[in-house]
Amino acid sequence: MFKDDFLWGAASAAYQVEGAYDEDGKGTGIWDHFTQDVTRCAHGENGNIACDHYHRYKEDVALMKEIGLKSYRFSINWTRVIPEGYGKVNEAGIRFYSDLVDELIGAGIEPMVTLFHWNYPYELYRKGGWKNADSPEWFAQYVKVVVDALSDRVRYWFTFNEPQLFLGGGHKIGFHAPFEENSAKDMMTLYRNVFLAHGKAVSVIRRNAKLSPMIGMAPTGSVCIPTDKITEDEARRRTFDFDSEDYFFSNAWWADPIMLGRFTDCACDVFGDDLISFTKEEWELVSQPLDYYAFNVYQAQTDMVPDRSKYDDYSYIGSPRTTTDWNVTPEVLYYAPKFFYERYKKPIMITENGMANTDWEFEDGKVHDPQRIDFLSRYLKELKRATDDGIPVLGYQYWSIMDNFEWTSGYDKRFGMIYVDYRTGKRTLKDSALWYADVIRSNGSKL
Ligand code: NOJ
Repeated sequence: MFKDDFLWGAASAAYQVEGAYDEDGKGTGIWDHFTQDVTRCAHGENGNIACDHYHRYKEDVALMKEIGLKSYRFSINWTRVIPEGYGKVNEAGIRFYSDLVDELIGAGIEPMVTLFHWNYPYELYRKGGWKNADSPEWFAQYVKVVVDALSDRVRYWFTFNEPQLFLGGGHKIGFHAPFEENSAKDMMTLYRNVFLAHGKAVSVIRRNAKLSPMIGMAPTGSVCIPTDKITEDEARRRTFDFDSEDYFFSNAWWADPIMLGRFTDCACDVFGDDLISFTKEEWELVSQPLDYYAFNVYQAQTDMVPDRSKYDDYSYIGSPRTTTDWNVTPEVLYYAPKFFYERYKKPIMITENGMANTDWEFEDGKVHDPQRIDFLSRYLKELKRATDDGIPVLGYQYWSIMDNFEWTSGYDKRFGMIYVDYRTGKRTLKDSALWYADVIRSNGSKL
């Protein structure tokens, strides 16, 4: 059973929806900068205009209200608030987020803030970015500005969205901004600084928040589930295991230090003396208690960067896939909460889950997306099963509230519950949004 105050929500991220990339004093982020090179993203696309949510946020919040959302997770564009990343604050940027928060509260929707969802300030990147030893402090200063401005109305905070992706994807494999492939040694510096930045952010929020805060991170990682050939114990082991090839995309690499205050044994085996070292005070900073274990989860998988020429343990000839080629594996919403709760012993928050589909406007003017309804029905039943088994789950944020800029895949991959016609900006509630509205109204009993 879902608790009465279950947070049925949806999510987005600033760079993917806002647009207005250079308006009202906003500075440049690395995604703003690197995507001006038209070879970076599909069709040479970028987030310059995106869904124009910056100008249309009232209309968007009205649609969220129509769906009946209880919560909305969005991120702050760091350079909208502090154009150069550090120092001078841009009041117009603060005003935008403050107005958005007011609009949400007016609509009865709980605002949830992600502090960093990848669009790192370009000016700070030029100073070394996350490699610079000052970078945790730069982040802490920015977090303080946001907390001072919004914490009288915002309770839910997430420090980093998917560090696996912005560091692994952006700094190691080079398929996300800033498109770098760093050495193993530089990667350790990057991780170290992001761990410290997370810790400093948690301290800043705890010390300065006006409303008693609920703080977490929003990582991702390979979650394995049992199959005919994989026992539950083996699935659990693989969910927290990693090697020198895939550690940066794993769950335990990020979460164990933060949730348990230590690296897993396998990190010591894999890295030996090259492993990051923290002083006692730094460990205390990094592993301050969080209020929930929040995470993004889409599919069961054995490898976050699968070799597309092969099937993994969860796929077979013709197996169900979304348009990003991800496995449809509903049981992941049972096992992921279960495995994470067992290991980290904190209430669970699903910060992202959803699917990309080949949506378009039908002849009747509506957007019919039966696959998404079926996907959601299957996944949410599994989440319900987790709650029935006693796993405390606080909320579920569908990714995404509206179609948006899917990073290097551009606009082709439509994850939204609200269809966006990018030529006109027109929004249409998809069938799945109406279905979700019903589920929310019944607090999940309609599933
Ligand atoms: C992960 C990311 O947080 C989000 O930005 C992305 O669009 C979705 N998942 C889908 O890939």
